[in-house]
Amino acid sequence: MIVTVGGIKGGGGKTTAATNLTVMRRLAGCDVLLIDADEQRSASEFVAQREALGQGSLACVQLVGAAVRTQVRQLATRYSDIVIDTGGRDTASQRAALTVSDLLLVPFQPGNFDLWTLEQVERLVEEVRSVNEGLDAACFISRGYPVGADNAQAAEMLQKSTMLRFIATPIIGRKAFNTASGEGLSVVEAKPRDSKAVAEMQRLYQAVFGDDDAEAAALSQHDSGKVTA
Ligand SMILES: Nc1ncnc2c1ncn2[C@@H]1O[C@H](COP(=O)(O)OP(=O)(O)OP(=O)(O)O)[C@@H](O)[C@H]1O
Ligand SMILES: [Mg+2]
Repeated sequence: MIVTVGGIKGGGGKTTAATNLTVMRRLAGCDVLLIDADEQRSASEFVAQREALGQGSLACVQLVGAAVRTQVRQLATRYSDIVIDTGGRDTASQRAALTVSDLLLVPFQPGNFDLWTLEQVERLVEEVRSVNEGLDAACFISRGYPVGADNAQAAEMLQKSTMLRFIATPIIGRKAFNTASGEGLSVVEAKPRDSKAVAEMQRLYQAVFGDDDAEAAALSQHDSGKVTA
């Protein structure tokens, strides 16, 4: 499966989702490739940090522009899954990625400036579907508020989209996500374990990949210590 984590707004949690999903897919025993299609190179930094701290390696390449399309086509024969992390704008790299993706996954923070980009994302999906009609598109709340009505209000708005299906399992703003990323780890690997953060990321994983492998991987990780990817 080829998943592009994208959107129009920066800082919403794309790289956090892309890196966590990649690691969880790897822990589930799949041959997964992470493609860093953002010139900021945060995903590549994550992988470098993971390797430097001896947490295990992850297959990762940096690609930009039209090369994303041509290379992904070739690489798709060698990997069971590809996760593409894109930058926080409507870039040539993201458009190239979407022409060869099965799923566009878009995190939305429950803030007005983020939610107001929904229409632009819908237009992007509509345009890409003219060349990749099978493109599935889904959104979820990322960096949600731990309390209050903002998440529910954002959910109400996102649910109305006819172009993107809404994944009703939010990722809440939690220190654990940031701490784990800094150590080159997914939240399912990080110690001490934040069970709420783990459960949220597992639900996102299941919504994307549609299986329970992540839970099994996270549990064995929990029981037996570090797993080398
Ligand atoms: N659920 C979360 N809880 C707490 N912090 C988070 C969460 N998700 C992301 N962050 C932090 O917020 C910042 C932005 O997240 P991230 O880099 O994943 O967003 P992005 O969409 O990839 O940004 P960009 O558009 O710049 O590529 C990072 O410092 C990250 O650690
Ligand atoms: Mg990013």
